[in-house]
Amino acid sequence: MSTDDGRSGLPPEADERIPRGWARHPRERMLITPIIAGVGGLLAFFTVVAIVVWLPIHTFDPPASADWSPLSNQAVAGRNIFAANGCYVCHSGYSRPQDVRNALYFLYPKISQPGDFFGSDQSPNLLGTERTGPDLSQEAGWHPDDWQRAHFYDPRFVDPMSLMPSMKSLFSDKQVEQLISFVQMRSGKSGLLRYAGQLYSKHVVITNQGFPPAPIGFEGAHATIAESAEPKVPAGQIPEVPNLAQIDRGYWLSGDPLPVTPQNLLRGKRVFLERCVGCHGIAGDGKGPGAKFMTPAPADFTSADDACCGGDTGPGDFYYRILHGWPGTGMENFGDRLTVDDIWRVVLFIKTIPNHTLDRNVLPQPKDYITWQPSKELLGWIATRQKMTSNASFDKKAVTDPFMQEAMRMFPGLAAGDTFYINGTTETLSLTAARNAIRSIYFDLLNRAWAQAKARGDKLPPVWQKAIPPEVPGQQ
Ligand code: HEC
Ligand code: HEC
Repeated sequence: MSTDDGRSGLPPEADERIPRGWARHPRERMLITPIIAGVGGLLAFFTVVAIVVWLPIHTFDPPASADWSPLSNQAVAGRNIFAANGCYVCHSGYSRPQDVRNALYFLYPKISQPGDFFGSDQSPNLLGTERTGPDLSQEAGWHPDDWQRAHFYDPRFVDPMSLMPSMKSLFSDKQVEQLISFVQMRSGKSGLLRYAGQLYSKHVVITNQGFPPAPIGFEGAHATIAESAEPKVPAGQIPEVPNLAQIDRGYWLSGDPLPVTPQNLLRGKRVFLERCVGCHGIAGDGKGPGAKFMTPAPADFTSADDACCGGDTGPGDFYYRILHGWPGTGMENFGDRLTVDDIWRVVLFIKTIPNHTLDRNVLPQPKDYITWQPSKELLGWIATRQKMTSNASFDKKAVTDPFMQEAMRMFPGLAAGDTFYINGTTETLSLTAARNAIRSIYFDLLNRAWAQAKARGDKLPPVWQKAIPPEVPGQQ
């Protein structure tokens, strides 16, 4: 910059630094005008966008993974609701290696592959980035539909500490069912297999316990809590047999390893109030706000008789159900959310509920604890199952058939040769029967979804992809 007097306009000291007699530097012009800078900047920006966004979208098309499966029409409608309501803002749709390490037994059993997102029913993708809620790529089959209904109506009904918004104002009954279909079908073949196991277990549990099917959509909000009919006990069986079939045998007679102290009981009460009252009720009577949606209805813990002497109410049985959940019922899996000690503590606490320890401001005391004793009938029956001379039937041989693996996951208490009857019907309960039923439900779901995707004109992988058997992650 120069001024009229030929000086630079800079402070006098600066002018002094130019040696006398030297030519002054020519006046500089800005070669890059703001317009050129603007256009150039935009060009650079859009080149980068084209390379990292546009190009991959239009050229990256990995083949379907072995686990990929299409969505049914109902699930596609549910996917649109999922997108329209911004569920992906809180829930991502892919699981990473570190997720699998954190939660192998629930929600994240496998790492997502690019080929899991094949096809037009996955586009535009709903991968999301935020994990305010859990990743839902593997949500299928972990809960039965009745749990999902109660949860969508009001997430606090099943998880008193949940921050997920209630969805009751958004959906008609039809839309709720569509959303549930999406959640239950989005996890590929391994998810379909889990869902098939869940559907079969639901059938066994409600038939055995004499419960009606669960209400559809949000009808449960206006229903009364389902009641069970008196179960019919087949000759030569004790009533709890089908329930015990869903608990690993090692737990049937085991006691609580923790001592009955005021501290343990108080901690157990706290866990119960924070996690369990939505279903089991603030009085422990099974009449929480979520209960109306569910069949079987949540367990009632107020009976002293049940606490001391039930055939499947031992501390080990309770522990196993809280750890793994109870497939076919709304009882969920707490294995990834509670520590082993906290589970045993809440088991201790549950055994004090008949003595009114859930009342306000009551500190549960060791004297309130009801000790469980196996009945003579239970011991007699177990003795017929535990053939100590030959335990060949309990041998854990490597099983490669995924349908059998799933049957064993649903019914860990069944040995290979066991055959029982369900609620006085002629229907048998055995690993083979479970395997066959789960297999046919799985293929029914898969074949119907393929046919519907084809009718929609979706891009499908070659037909042999359909025949690749599903895997039960973590069971190989
Ligand atoms: C504000 C964030 C937020 C939004 C929006 C949201 N969720 Fe959630 N969601 C959560 C949180 C947190 C949890 C975990 C606690 C719970 O189970 O309620 C959760 C849990 C879930 C679960 C159960 C996971 C499991 O198995 O434990 C499902 C299914 C689910 N959400 C579906 C949806 C759908 C479908 C929508 C859209 C209609 C949605 N969520 C919207 C935060 C959110
Ligand atoms: C989403 C609802 C729900 C939640 C939350 C829930 N439960 Fe359950 N629970 C059930 C249902 C449904 C059953 C099955 C009852 C049946 O089939 O008879 C059940 C069964 C059980 C059983 C087996 C009872 C028996 O008599 O064999 C135990 C123990 C149990 N729950 C403990 C808990 C504990 C502890 C918590 C909290 C950490 C909890 N539940 C949270 C719904 C729930």
